[in-house]
Amino acid sequence: MAYISDEVIEEIRRHFDLVEVVSFYIDLKKVGKNFVGFCPFHSEKTPSFTVSPEKQIFHCFGCQTGGNLFSFIMQMEDCSFPDAVRLLAQRAGITVEPPPSTPAEKLKVQARESLQEMYSLAQKYYQALLWRSPQGKEVLTYLQRRGLNKQSILEFQLGYAGNNWQGLTGELRKRGYDLQIALTGGLLGKSSTGRYYDYFRERLIFPIWDSRGRVVAFGGRILGPGEPKYLNSPESPLFNKSRTLYGFHLALPHIRREKKALLVEGYMDVILLHQHGIREAVAPLGTALTEKQLSLLRGRLDKILLVFDADEGGETAVLRGLELFKNEGCRVEVAQLPPGLDPADYIKERGGEVFRSEIMGSARSLTDYRLHAIKKGFDLAGEEGRIGYWKEARRVLLEIQEALEREEYLKKIAGEIDVALEVLRGDLENIKKGSFPEERAKGKKVQAQEERKKFSLKELVERELLSCVLHNPRYLDQLKKLEINAEKFTEEPYREIAATVFQLEQQGKEISAAALASYFSDPEMHKLIVSMALPDNDKEDPRVEKIFRDCSKKIRALCWAEERKRLIKSLQNTVSREELSAKLQRIRDLKKWEEELYRSGEGEDFDV
Ligand code: GTP
Ligand code: MN
Repeated sequence: MAYISDEVIEEIRRHFDLVEVVSFYIDLKKVGKNFVGFCPFHSEKTPSFTVSPEKQIFHCFGCQTGGNLFSFIMQMEDCSFPDAVRLLAQRAGITVEPPPSTPAEKLKVQARESLQEMYSLAQKYYQALLWRSPQGKEVLTYLQRRGLNKQSILEFQLGYAGNNWQGLTGELRKRGYDLQIALTGGLLGKSSTGRYYDYFRERLIFPIWDSRGRVVAFGGRILGPGEPKYLNSPESPLFNKSRTLYGFHLALPHIRREKKALLVEGYMDVILLHQHGIREAVAPLGTALTEKQLSLLRGRLDKILLVFDADEGGETAVLRGLELFKNEGCRVEVAQLPPGLDPADYIKERGGEVFRSEIMGSARSLTDYRLHAIKKGFDLAGEEGRIGYWKEARRVLLEIQEALEREEYLKKIAGEIDVALEVLRGDLENIKKGSFPEERAKGKKVQAQEERKKFSLKELVERELLSCVLHNPRYLDQLKKLEINAEKFTEEPYREIAATVFQLEQQGKEISAAALASYFSDPEMHKLIVSMALPDNDKEDPRVEKIFRDCSKKIRALCWAEERKRLIKSLQNTVSREELSAKLQRIRDLKKWEEELYRSGEGEDFDV
């Protein structure tokens, strides 16, 4: 948010009524003070998506998402915070200053925009050749034979690059584009004599889009026999292969609604699956699935289903990467096709219903699949094979966080290798405790993660105090009176929120959840801030008053205790006599204040 000023952002936020903006996307009904509708971000049978006109925030009691105007647009339009601001500014007719940039940066932006234009022009050019040229007609026949209908061919914007070295080159030149940019962007090639020529020739063209549906690359499939079968655009300022999933922008609304995604391997597979109503299908671009591609899906899914060829190997990095999804509460399953068939062939023969029931329905869990794949590599008839299998398998088991699930697989393996369950369990425990050096590092990591999840008392107290302030700004005055300033808040993310709150107050700006959220571009922060403003307590609710009293006391005590701890620790390095006695005095004072604080009041304490 470097270049759109906070004032402009706040102006844009105030320009809109959140209820109206949301109503543009979904139907809302007035219920009491709020408006309620079906959540656009998850599927549900009873409406739990709530918009507060008074607070200008939204919250879904079903999926726990929430935020202000900007976070709503970010999620709805799948864009970044600055993009949401810009989009709304445009709708409101408010100008946001363009980013200041150096001449070199400007050139880069211009080149990128120009390349984007050329890609979209090239897409139209190839599409026209497919539908209008005589050779294109033959390609259409091929596509129909593969099972694609007209609508799919149009929706996926398929095209045909003719057997012509100067076709697209001529078009771009005619329009005055800088062909050097087209060359570096992968649309053209250049001969040793300096002549530009079409990069794609005599190929079926699959446009590849970015997540917002702009054409950024092509995949070109050869029409007869020959090599390579697919020629893909090289990476460019527009296109990063490892961050792109084929079909993502078309699948996204469905992925968002259904909370599940289907991963296949080929372009054809994606298109035919979509045509048969399996619209949550996407594919990596001919490479192994990458961490970046997975992160496009992260946080959106309850379930991810991979469809692999029958002979696919087992323990790949991808599969291990998917274990992370599981730990985030997403089910990961793997389905396999009959040997020799890919999803496209299968669905063309048998249709979407059968694909759903037979293939997707018989998917096995990721762990099951991994263990199965490992087992294939060992001969369980011999002792060596059984031990080898266990050594590999236990790595998989160690990654499972659910104790029950782990126990289930442990039982299964114990049966398979004919070893007592207790022995395997003991072995696993030893590894977890770190008696095996090779595994120790792993165990520690898991432990650290678990520890991080627990909230500290300080965190809870900071959260409650900020929540009071968001309910009624008069609590901020009280905090100041008690000399509880921003520095007293030390726990992330509350430290950051408090700093912003105090800063806003100093600038005399509105302090509400809706206004505050705009200072953060991370949608998770929006959710958090809104969740703190939620409980619709009456502003004069005595319970809020009591929470405030308890927490303001506690935070001071905790800060004093922390300071005391720090001082005590520093004593051993203190040599100067004066300093030492000053420190000791301070330690005694802190202790005394803490005790007085607890003695004062009605003796009630904040209990957690
Ligand atoms: P059909 O053979 O027409 O069914 O196409 P497909 O999309 O199903 O292709 P296939 O199953 O053979 O390969 C799966 C994916 O791997 C393709 O969609 C491409 O992304 C990629 N791929 C296949 N062959 C090549 C190749 O020779 N070069 C590159 N770069 N990628 C390829
Ligand atoms: Mn195929």
